[in-house]
Amino acid sequence: MLLEGKNAVITGSASGVGRASALRFVEEGARVVCADLDADGAKETVRQIEEAGGTAVAVATDVSKEGDVAAAIQAAVEHFGRLDIMFNNVGIPTPRLGMTFTDHSFADYQKLAAVNFGGVFLGCKYAVEQFKKQGDGGVILNTGSVAGLVGWGGTVYGATKGAVVQLTRAVAVEVAPENIRVNALCPGAMPYTGFMAAGGLQLPEDQIEQVAQAAGSIHPMGRPVTAEDCAEAAVFLCSDRAKNITGVLLPIDGGYVAK
Ligand SMILES: NC(=O)c1ccc[n+]([C@@H]2O[C@H](COP(=O)([O-])OP(=O)(O)OC[C@H]3O[C@@H](n4cnc5c(N)ncnc54)[C@H](O)[C@@H]3O)[C@@H](O)[C@H]2O)c1
Repeated sequence: MLLEGKNAVITGSASGVGRASALRFVEEGARVVCADLDADGAKETVRQIEEAGGTAVAVATDVSKEGDVAAAIQAAVEHFGRLDIMFNNVGIPTPRLGMTFTDHSFADYQKLAAVNFGGVFLGCKYAVEQFKKQGDGGVILNTGSVAGLVGWGGTVYGATKGAVVQLTRAVAVEVAPENIRVNALCPGAMPYTGFMAAGGLQLPEDQIEQVAQAAGSIHPMGRPVTAEDCAEAAVFLCSDRAKNITGVLLPIDGGYVAK
C-alpha cells in the first residue's frame, strides 16, 4: 500500500493514463478525485473504483479554466480533508494526426497551449498554494511526452509538452524547500488509449492491434507503451519511496529517447 491515506486529484481520469492511474492509486490505498471534461467518463471511473471497494469522487473539470482547476482541488479538501497528490495528466493531440507545423492555425495553437500547458500551469499553481496552506509538503506529477524531449512530429503539441517539461523542472527547484516534489512522466506511443481517437483517428476494431504493433516498433523495446505502464511509474513517483526524487522527466518509452 504505497499510497495509504493519500488524497489525490487526477486530471483526465475518464480515460487512458488517468483512469489506469486512478484505479492503481486506489489499489495502493489512495482516495481520488477523478477530474475530467468528460463527466460521464469520470463517473464511470468512480464506479469501477467503488466496485473494487475504493473511494473516489467525480468532478466535471475543464483544466483550461482556472475556476474548474481550483474547484477540483477544493473537492479533495472538502471530501477527504486535504490534498497530498496532484496529477496533472490531461493532454490533447493535434486536431488531426499528421498535421505539419504550418497546417496549424493560430486557434489550433491557442487550444493546445490552453489545455496542455495552461492546464498544467493551473494544476501546479493551485496545488502548490494548497500544499503551502497545509504546511507539510506534497507531490505533483505532470504528464509530458517524448514529444517534449525530442523532435517527434506534432510540432505544436510537442512544444506544449516541452513547456510542461520546463515548468516541471523550474517549479521543482522553487518549491523543494517546502518539501513539495514535482516530476513528469514522458510517455512514448500509447495506441490503446483514447488519444488517437481524440486526434481524429477512429480505427475499426480489427485494425487497432495492427496499428499498435506498428507504433510499438518505433521503441527499441519493440512494444507499445500502455496506460498501465504509466500508472505504475505514477504510483512510485507519488509515493514516499520517491521522497528524494524531484525535477525528473521520466521517459516511459521503451528506450525511444535513449536511441
Ligand atoms: N497516447 C499517446 O500516444 C501519448 C503519448 C505521449 C503522451 N501522452 C499524454 O498522456 C496523457 C494522457 O493521454 P491518454 O493517452 O491517456 O489520452 P486519453 O485521450 O485516453 O485521455 C485524455 C483525457 O483527458 C480528458 N480531457 C481532454 N481535454 C480536457 C480538458 N480540457 N479538461 C479536462 N479533461 C480533458 C479527456 O476527456 C480524456 O478523458 C496526455 O497528457 C497526453 O498528451 C499520450
